[in-house]
Amino acid sequence: MNIIILLGPPGAGKGTVSEVLTKHGIKHVSTGDMLRKEIKNNTELGLRSHKKISQGLFANDDDVMTMVTEFLLNQKKENFIIFDGFPRTLIQAEKLDLLTKKSQIKIFNVLRLKCPEDVLISRLSGRRTCVVCGAVYHDIFSPPKIFGRCDIEDGSLAKRLDDEPVVIKRRLKIYNKLTKPLADYYKNKSMLVELDANCSPQEVREHTLKVYKDII
Ligand code: AP5
Repeated sequence: MNIIILLGPPGAGKGTVSEVLTKHGIKHVSTGDMLRKEIKNNTELGLRSHKKISQGLFANDDDVMTMVTEFLLNQKKENFIIFDGFPRTLIQAEKLDLLTKKSQIKIFNVLRLKCPEDVLISRLSGRRTCVVCGAVYHDIFSPPKIFGRCDIEDGSLAKRLDDEPVVIKRRLKIYNKLTKPLADYYKNKSMLVELDANCSPQEVREHTLKVYKDII
């Protein structure tokens, strides 16, 4: 099994890249989505993570590794998997390396999305997510046809608990401190591919297709 790692700050558009690859049959896994599901289901892990995520802090490395390892060990048929938001710390990256050494799992490449901070803040401040299907909108850049309602499921659109201005700033700070260094970690392993994400979603889709043209 080959893993594609998406590395990028909050709001860089990891959702857009994932959407392109999933349309080509590649399975998408977001540790953020996994954690939000644990929170919704009131599991012990979810309860532990809830306060941290709502404050813009990371979940515990051990909790994240437990979720990811269990997920990976249950995958039998997948050839490629996209990891969106994992690894996010050096500890997670090293633990993933250990896992790859002990199994048939290989890292295919690491796609780093680059985007200036002021653009990230305006994207996250206007993001709305459908409470039913999880479709993502933006008040200005990709609004729904009817204000506040999802085009697909007619569910109401909600702001994510970590998309409040103070929390966005904290998330960006933590990204720069704990996740950005992973770019050098993977660059030293010749696994890093960079993508300019400061452009329209259509251009991001086109860049993504170019990077992965040999596997989709
Ligand atoms: P997670 O859900 O992974 O959030 P994130 O990494 O902070 O990323 P986002 O989902 O905010 O950004 P995105 O790049 O996907 O943006 P999107 O495509 O939606 O994690 C949430 C939290 O869970 C973390 O903060 C942490 O606490 C915890 N967590 C998760 N994984 C963890 C781990 N491994 N270890 C520890 N803790 C973990 O786009 C954003 C908006 O911009 C949308 O409205 C979209 O419409 C718009 N937009 C996107 N692209 C464009 C474009 N090109 N032009 C105009 N608008 C655009």
